[in-house]
Formats: sequence, C-alpha cells, structure tokens
Amino acid sequence: MITTAIMAVLQGSGRNVSRPSTHNLKSQTSNLKPMTYKKTFLLAAFLLMAMAVSAASQPVETFTIGNKTFLLNGQPFVVKAAEVHYPRIPRPYWEHRIKMCKALGMNTLCLYVFWNIHEQREGEFDFTGNSDVAEFCRLAKKNGMYVIVRPGPYVCAEWEMGGLPWWLLKKKDIHLRERDPYFMERVKIFEQKVGEQLAPLTIQNGGPIIMIQVENEYGSYGEDKPYVSEIRDCLRSIYGDKMALFQCDWSSNFEKNGLDDLTWTMNFGTGANIDEQFRRLGELRPNAPKMCSEFWSGWFDKWGARHETRPAKDMVEGMDEMLSKGISFSLYMTHGGTSFGHWAGANSPGFAPDVTSYDYDAPINEWGLATPKFWELRTMMAKYNDGKKLPAVPKAPMPIITVPKFELTEFATLMTAAPKDGKTEKGALKTFEEMDMGWGTMIYSTRLPEITSPSVLTGEFHDFAQVFIDGKYIGKIDRVKNEKSLTIPAVKKGADLIIIVEGMGRINFGRAIKDFKGIVGNVTLSTETDDAEIMLTPKNWLNIAIPDDYETARNALDMVKSFNAKTDLKGSVPGIAVTRSYEESAKLAEFMKPGYHRGYFNLKKVGDTFLNFETWGKGQVWVNGHAMGRIWSIGPQQTLYIPGCWLKKGKNEVIVLDVVGPKEAVCWGQAEPELNKLQLEKTNKHNNIGDKPDLNSATPVALSVSNGSAVATPTATAKAGNGWQTFRFAALQKGRYLAIEVLSTQKDGDRAAIAELYLQGADGKRLSREPWKTKYANSEEENGNHTGDKVFDLQESTYWQTEKGAQTPHLLVIDLGSAQTITALEYLPRAEQGAPGNIKDFKIYLY
Ligand code: GLA
Ligand code: CA
Repeated sequence: MITTAIMAVLQGSGRNVSRPSTHNLKSQTSNLKPMTYKKTFLLAAFLLMAMAVSAASQPVETFTIGNKTFLLNGQPFVVKAAEVHYPRIPRPYWEHRIKMCKALGMNTLCLYVFWNIHEQREGEFDFTGNSDVAEFCRLAKKNGMYVIVRPGPYVCAEWEMGGLPWWLLKKKDIHLRERDPYFMERVKIFEQKVGEQLAPLTIQNGGPIIMIQVENEYGSYGEDKPYVSEIRDCLRSIYGDKMALFQCDWSSNFEKNGLDDLTWTMNFGTGANIDEQFRRLGELRPNAPKMCSEFWSGWFDKWGARHETRPAKDMVEGMDEMLSKGISFSLYMTHGGTSFGHWAGANSPGFAPDVTSYDYDAPINEWGLATPKFWELRTMMAKYNDGKKLPAVPKAPMPIITVPKFELTEFATLMTAAPKDGKTEKGALKTFEEMDMGWGTMIYSTRLPEITSPSVLTGEFHDFAQVFIDGKYIGKIDRVKNEKSLTIPAVKKGADLIIIVEGMGRINFGRAIKDFKGIVGNVTLSTETDDAEIMLTPKNWLNIAIPDDYETARNALDMVKSFNAKTDLKGSVPGIAVTRSYEESAKLAEFMKPGYHRGYFNLKKVGDTFLNFETWGKGQVWVNGHAMGRIWSIGPQQTLYIPGCWLKKGKNEVIVLDVVGPKEAVCWGQAEPELNKLQLEKTNKHNNIGDKPDLNSATPVALSVSNGSAVATPTATAKAGNGWQTFRFAALQKGRYLAIEVLSTQKDGDRAAIAELYLQGADGKRLSREPWKTKYANSEEENGNHTGDKVFDLQESTYWQTEKGAQTPHLLVIDLGSAQTITALEYLPRAEQGAPGNIKDFKIYLY
C-alpha cells in the first residue's frame, strides 16, 4: 500500500496529469487523508528517502507514448502547447510571454530552433543573448512549463529560407533537405551544437524537454524516407533512446514520409474537421496518441496583401473539441511576435515575401498583450484545468508610449556604403551568394553600346530591382509582381546602366527554398527592327555588394557627417559629394535617392511603441543599433513594433535604409500598430499577390467527352487557328470566380493570348459579362494595353497577352460578380493570321 502510494507520488496522479510533477508531489501528499498517523509518518519517511534518491539520481520524470495517449510519469497526459519563437521575442520579455501562455492554461511551450540565427557564418555558432535557446527552456521550467523542441534542420515558419543558413547556397548545386553529403555534414554539426545546449535539458535529465520533432512537414517538399531517417538517427544519437521523437505533417501528406518508429502528429488550421484530420491515422495506428502539432490560430501577412485574421470562435471551438476528446495540441501561434531584422521569409509558389510583424492574429498579440481571442480561449481552457483556477494574467513589462513626429535629417546615399574592402568585383554578373553576402543590396553597373530604338531589358531579379540610365530612373522590376522585364529608351554609346537590386527574405516553403539573391543569370536587352530581332547580353559588369548590417549603415552616415562638417557643399545634395564631383552628382540626383537616413527622438519615459513609416518607400530600420525589420509603403504593415526594452531615456537613434526614397523623411511613434493599410500603386495590372487564388488543392472543371476525348478530362486542349472554340463541362459548375490556367501555347515558348471569353449558363446561353472584373493575372503586357480585362471587352481585336519571357503556367482570374451556374466556356484566340499566342493545354477552375 505504502509502496503504491509512493509510486503514485513519484509518478504524479491521473487527476493532475496536466501539471508538472513538482506540483503533483504537493497536492498528492495532502490527498492521503484516510491513512493512519503511523502510516502517514512512515510514508513521510519513505517520501523523504525517495526524494533524496531521485534528486541524486535523476530522472525525476518520464514522458512516454502510451496506449492512445501520451504518458507523463506513467499517467495519461494531454499536451496543451503554446508555440512561441524565442528570436521573435526580445529576451527581456521572454518570461512575461511564458507567463502569458501559462495564464491561458497551457502546460507546454513548443519552439523551433532556427539554424540560421545560430550559425550565421559557417562554423561560427552563437547561443547567447536573444539566441540563448537553453535559457528560454530554463525559463519555461522555472515557470512550470514543459517544452517541445523542433530543431529542424528545416523549420518553414515564415522565416528566412525556412531556417536554413544562406551560406549553404555557396555550393551552387547543393541539394537542400536531401542526403547531399555537404548538406548532411553541416546538419549534423549544427544538431550536435544544439544538443550541447539542449540535451542536458531533456526530461530524462531533469529538464523540461518532453518531445523532439524530426524535420518539418517533409511531405510538402518530397518523398524521401531515407533522408528523414537519417535526421531521426542524428537526433536519436544526440538525445538518447528514451526521448520521444515525432514527425508532423498534413494528414493528406503523411504517409509519404511517415516512419514506423516515430509518433505522427497532424498540422491543420482552425475550422478544420478534426475527426477527418485524424481518420487515416486512426485506421493505420488505432492505438497511437492524437496530437495536432500545429493548430493555426490565425495566419501570416504578405507584402501587398490584406492583413489576415481568423475568427476566435473557430479556434476556441476546435480546441474545445480536441480537449473533450483528449487530443493534444500545439497552438501555432499562441504568441507570434516579430520577425525582426531581415528574418522574415517568403512564401511560394511565386514570390510572396512576409511582412515584419508575425502577429498572426494570435491570442497574445505581437507586443505580448491579451486580445479578445485570448480571453475567449482562457474561459474555455479553464474548463480543462482540473477545477482549479488558471494562473493570473501577468502585467505587461512596459507601458505603451507615443513619440511626437520627428525628422530624419541626416542622409548618406547607398553608394556611400560601397565597401572599400573588396566586396566589389568586375566581370560577369554575381549573385549575393557569389559575393559572399547573405543579405543586403547590390549595385550592378555596365556601359551600353548604342541602341537606336527602345529595348526590353530582361532578367531574373531577386527581388526588387530599380533601373537607372545615366543616373535617371527608368523603372522597377518587382519579383512580387512576377515582373522580369522593363522597356528602356534608346541609348547613346557608353550610357551608364545601373541596376540596384534589394534582396528580401528567402523563400521558406516548397522546392523554391533554393532562392539565390541579386541578379540570377544574364541580363539581356532586346529590340526589334523591321526584319530582325537584336539581342544584346552585356558581359562586363561592376558588382557592388552592400550588406544590410547596422555598422554599414552607421559608417556611411558618419562618413558623410564628418565630410559635411569640413565642406561648403553641405546641404546641397547631401552625401553625394563623397563619391563624385558636385556637377556630376547633380545629374545623378535620381540615382542618389536610395540611401540611409538618420534622426533622433528623446524620451523621458521608456515604453513599447509603434514607429510609423508610411511616408517611406522600402527598406529596413535600426533603432539604437537593433535591426527592427523591413518596411514597404505598399503595406499592409505601416508601423514597426519597437520594444521599450531596446529604448532608453534621453536620445534614441533611428536609421532607415530606404532603397526607393521617402516622400517625407519623418516618423512618429503611435500607441497602436497599423497592420492593415495597403497603399498599392495605381496600375492597370492585376498582379496583387493577395488576389491570387491558391489552386494547389482545387479541382479543375472536368470537360465533357463531346470535346473529342474518350473520358471526361480536367485538361482542355484548344485547337490551332482562328475562330471560336467551345468547351462543354461534364457537369453543371457553380462559382463566382473563373480561373484559366494556361499550361502551354500552340507554338512552344510563345507568349499566351486570349481575345475573348464567354461562359454559358444552364440554358446554354451566354452569360452577361457586365459585372465581370479581372481579379488576378500573373502576367500581363501592360505596355501594349494587353491586360486581363481585354478578354471581356467585346472587342475581338483586343486581347490579354502575357509578357515576353514569362513562363507557363499563366494564370488569369475573372470575378463574375456573383456565383453563377455554368455549362461551357467559349474561347476566342487572337484574330491575326495564325492566331498568335493561341493557347493549347489549359485548365479551367470555378470557385
Ligand atoms: C506550416 C509550417 C509552419 C508554418 C505554418 C504556417 O505548418 O510547419 O512552420 O510555416 O505552416 O504558418
Ligand atoms: Ca478582347
């Protein structure tokens, strides 16, 4: 009896399963009322002995996989995890955020380990300051929380390159996330280093870490069990046989890479049908515990697209359902925080860079406070806390302050920062990686031969290019908009072509994570005469790499400041005289717009604030030397979260690198963020990333057999030549949006064109196109007025046409104004002889 009681004490009891056993020990002792005094005395003696033994010979606790449940100290345990990312929270606020999660009723913290913040240069490791992941885990333990660690190597997470270090790309032919010898060698070294930090903190060693994840959602990258197994073996050798290892993926992807000896957990968002998400797992492994390893509370924001939110109700109901069924979860994100500096990643397909804020519409907002979602969730979570009250919500560590408008009066051009230390090379075009630069901006320049008529400049610019000829701004080529070319005017022999390319975050999802920055490949100039197409490929370039670190920015400003102090040119065209004579510089005024601005504000009282940058163009911000993040006038984010712990009483320094140039170099601190203000330029194009549908999981319309094929087929094939063609659907279709995905053209490599489209209703008659609008086109030739709206302008001579060099698939989406019932699509190619641009294989979607 006594032995059993002690065992129960040591292992924790079923009723207290969701709390750490140190608490269990206390409550369990007072639960032993029916015993006699003698027995209690004996028990106490045993207990003391047992505690002495366990303290000397850890482990104190165990975490294992049981029958349909996780077991903490042998007892059923529901993991209620809060996903939080230590680099997205300033270190002085870590403990506050942990306490906030605890106040929500969470018993565990779930975190990724971000390889690229710990090994910023190959072989140089850093686990200090804001990167001290072990300290974060110790704080978790101190606050009675368990920890789940997800050490990648790949993490996704809307983080630069999904957490992989950019320098891996210096080996151009590297196979990322595969058994590439170099990749695996570096992975193992990294994991070993993480192990040195975290292995002492596993539950088996008396620490808070209960589970470790192997890779991340590998199914959306590939099918490669040998690779995933090698990562598993690596982690097992570091954390030992007793550590619970698991994999996470979408239920639809799981079987591709699911290993027999690992726990499988599912990722899905609010509103998902939970039973359905676990159905297949239940069939394959009826006795496995169930866990949603990423239950998405909200979603992330991309530049140029509206701010994302998800209803609190869906989140709370989903979690309530899981808890009622004993399903474990991690709420991704419980507190999203901020992707400071250059750490925000980018989504693909296409290129959709993420904004700096990682607020995620999570229950704890970006700056650490409780939202209405938090309170709703807390009320629900309280039901599952063994009848006990949830811990109090902690006080915010800092007040929120405002800062009156101030001007950033100091300026240095980007050129001022051109390094004197060798990051300049002559010859072929170079990428950032080839210049040994991870992040920043490159200036490329060359001299052109005479080109007597306008020509089209084409290339792969990663990510935001601005083109200048003889210092005059010609235009930009924006990867977010899928742009690859720009028309430039006729030029004289010796004209100076300068292209400034700013790199944004590397893609963090899908195969496109191998995302080189700068100009990738050649730049060509092509022009047409009556009987020839002339193409020119400049070969002699000057490559100048300017990293985006604070020292570079400050040095440039300091240099101009000391120069201005010594010269009369002060104030005329600030900063320019450093690199050129004044007359020469004045001509270059437009080229001189990209640059660094500095200003100061004074504080009597320190606090959190949101600096507003809506009058600025595009770039990055540093406050008191801390890299705060990216800004871009297009929005939706217009303010940056500035944590009070990085501000000081008295004078505070703000530096802005603006690669475009501000409308007004002013700034102010407000009490609330602005995360949802788009300031898109007026253009006839329809390539706003936020309007692009995600067709990955959509089913194309099946076409009726009467189109000539033997079975109903999802791919339509148009005939060559002019004239209307009709495509009948196998069944009635309903939808408000029509998407045409062009897979190929009749003439290989040709650009695609469509002159007119009609849809037939249930009665076989053409629908009115009055309410139609173009919603999205990933490529449109704006110059010749061949935008998407030309497919329903009644004119058979006007047409939508993709840009030269744009790659298939092309996507055109039309908003029909309201949901319609449709039976067929009518298509008209261009009216010219031979129907140029006539499409061939294409898919139709209605949604
Ligand atoms: C996936 C990844 C996460 C994150 C979310 C979206 O589930 O595993 O890292 O990217 O998508 O926020
Ligand atoms: Ca037309």
